[in-house]
Amino acid sequence: MEAEKRNDALKKIKDELLVFKKSPLYKYRTENKYFPVIGEGSHFAKIVLVGEAPGKNEALQGRPFCGASGRVLNQLLESSGTKREDVYITNIVKDRPPENRDPTEEEKKIYAPFLDRQIEIIQPKVIAALGRHSMEYLMNRFNLADKLEPISYAHGKAFEAKASYGRIYIVALYHPAASIYNINLRSTLVSDFKIINSLV
Ligand code: URA
Repeated sequence: MEAEKRNDALKKIKDELLVFKKSPLYKYRTENKYFPVIGEGSHFAKIVLVGEAPGKNEALQGRPFCGASGRVLNQLLESSGTKREDVYITNIVKDRPPENRDPTEEEKKIYAPFLDRQIEIIQPKVIAALGRHSMEYLMNRFNLADKLEPISYAHGKAFEAKASYGRIYIVALYHPAASIYNINLRSTLVSDFKIINSLV
């Protein structure tokens, strides 16, 4: 798909999300003057990173990973030799859940089709799941349910899968925020992140 078609298709997702009244998070978004966080980065990215849901900073700016987790993510990308502008960064859930709680099953289900469309448009070779929620969603989505294991075992592993446009890898990673709470995970994240580039 050429650049203009990709732009248009991604813009359509943005337009739909702006008026996504069906979402249980829509009212909370508008009451707080938050933005939906659609995603950002290269529309031709070979690597797509999928987080959970926006935090407060992200919802205020309408950009993924621009707060504390974003600072960690930027360091991890840099240490693995990956430029942030070369990848595409998004979340399963595109609106901020109140009080930074985990997204619910219902929220993940209602927003997941937007992520599916983003993947179909961008057609990445590697999809890196940042954290348990996106790992579980992506592994189920790409018929890897039988390989699912807790993130403490799955982190740093690449699972080969079949997308509509060809062979891809789903990579399971700890969420960058995990290393804010547990500094011991930082070195694990640094070494796990190196796998992403080795697969493209
Ligand atoms: N955590 C996420 O999972 N996504 C963001 O965009 C920010 C923090």
